[in-house]
Amino acid sequence: MQTSELRSGAEFALPDGAIPVTLRINGTAYPLRLDPHTSLLDALREHLGITGPKKGCNQGACGACTMLADGNRILACLALTIQYAGKEITTIEGIAADGELHPLQAAFITHDGLQCGYCTPGQICSTIGMLREFEAGLPSAVTEDMASTSIVLSDAEIKERMSGNLCRCGAYVGICEAIHEFAAMGAAR
Ligand code: FES
Ligand code: FES
Repeated sequence: MQTSELRSGAEFALPDGAIPVTLRINGTAYPLRLDPHTSLLDALREHLGITGPKKGCNQGACGACTMLADGNRILACLALTIQYAGKEITTIEGIAADGELHPLQAAFITHDGLQCGYCTPGQICSTIGMLREFEAGLPSAVTEDMASTSIVLSDAEIKERMSGNLCRCGAYVGICEAIHEFAAMGAAR
């Protein structure tokens, strides 16, 4: 957006100070009236009852709130709702299709990639976004050959790329195995 096109929130504000915004979440449009400071996480959890994305730290440190915006992983606790109007938001509720578990969800179960499950929605959304980045050829901090066009998805790459998603139950071994299994499915994604 050009600077000249930027408009202040006050320009759109309703008499109560709220801002009208329509979010697209898991294929459905949700018109809302919100305080312009509302985070995307709070908009979903507190205003729409979409509670799959979890609030852990509420400061960008744990990854529990991870969801996808136009396919890219984001931390919803750090995202302003009004910035995401017009984007296609996908949460854990929108991952599965036709009543069947998404293959990544199934892999998490197969490999015991969870215990309490609190971090799992974020882990799964983050994995999908991470693999999109990986398949686009984006290197990570542990990629040895930045110029390589065929980075190997090693344990080290997975751990680094998923390092923003913490699991207090310590299910990391299973999470890593599940990601390996899902990544190997390739075309199934
Ligand atoms: S709740 Fe968003 S990163 Fe922890
Ligand atoms: S499964 Fe409990 S925090 Fe990860």
